[in-house]
Amino acid sequence: MNWNALRRLRARFLEFGDNAETADRADYWGSHSELASYDFTFAERIGWKWDTLLAELRLRGWTPPSGGVLDWGCGTGVASRRVLSAWPGVFDRLVLTDRSGPARRFAATKAREAFPDVTVEVGGGGDAGLLVVSHVLNELPPNVLEALLATAAKATAILWVEPGTHEVSRRLCALRERLLGSGFHAVAPCTHAAACGILAPGNERHWCHHLARVPSEVHTDPGWGKFAQTLDLDLGRVPFSFLVLDRRAEPARDFREARVIGEPRMYKGFAKVLSCQADGVRELTQQKRDSGELYKELKKDPGSLYRWEREGDKIVGGERVF
Ligand SMILES: C[S@@+](CC[C@H](N)C(=O)[O-])C[C@H]1O[C@@H](n2cnc3c(N)ncnc32)[C@H](O)[C@@H]1O
Repeated sequence: MNWNALRRLRARFLEFGDNAETADRADYWGSHSELASYDFTFAERIGWKWDTLLAELRLRGWTPPSGGVLDWGCGTGVASRRVLSAWPGVFDRLVLTDRSGPARRFAATKAREAFPDVTVEVGGGGDAGLLVVSHVLNELPPNVLEALLATAAKATAILWVEPGTHEVSRRLCALRERLLGSGFHAVAPCTHAAACGILAPGNERHWCHHLARVPSEVHTDPGWGKFAQTLDLDLGRVPFSFLVLDRRAEPARDFREARVIGEPRMYKGFAKVLSCQADGVRELTQQKRDSGELYKELKKDPGSLYRWEREGDKIVGGERVF
């Protein structure tokens, strides 16, 4: 493990934060050991976000378009490897693009090792049935983002994962609105086809973020413990934002579903849930006396998708969808 390289990367991510205006314009990837150390740690943490999203998509029966995957801004390629693993045998071609040559080569080697039956190409755009984008938004100047959006507009479906910060997540919501104009419908996180409720006036302080399922062994593994301590990271709570768009015919959907934003806030005898559904983003209250079971679930192990029974902004019952 190249701890110095990890510290350098962490300092860089903190320094540039969410500000695409001041983002580093130069390739920051260094040695092979830096890429390998990133892939083993930071990228694996990003992988938990992908696993959470992909598990939901599989559970919901969503399947990607077969054929080619384009991993744009691939870094070490964790996102596309997670996607290829989620649907074995569905893809025959993977295209990896990144401004960094060392990153592209690293990602290609890892992908070829893991998926010998898939043709792995480096660079170029090509046609992308499925576009995969992960953790690039805060690094792209406006002209590069426009080029990415032009590529996105040609894809059949898009899987896009970003950090769960206020700034980046709201930017992703704005991109949703733009891309819906290119003929896509939103598969997730949206449970409706209406305009994004987070961007509605009055909701400026909110952002559409969700929590990744962190593998339980991470909490007891000394290696992860050292990583968290050395890099000053909370591995117990891994927020992320995401967007899944598809231009194929939309299957019938249950528009009564609601997405919990972030996590429920628990109080004595009641819970507050920021919930997104067809009637917008609303702060709902769930009283323990209305459903002790639901209150317990929201406290101990909240899901991400629910079908609420509501009376106005009161949740009087409901069931977890995911
Ligand atoms: C934080 S890393 C994320 C890498 C990978 N997608 C992941 O999720 O681990 C951001 C990546 O975007 C790439 N990148 C930054 N600016 C870019 C640009 N203008 N064109 C292409 N790739 C770019 C960087 O080289 C880096 O690999």
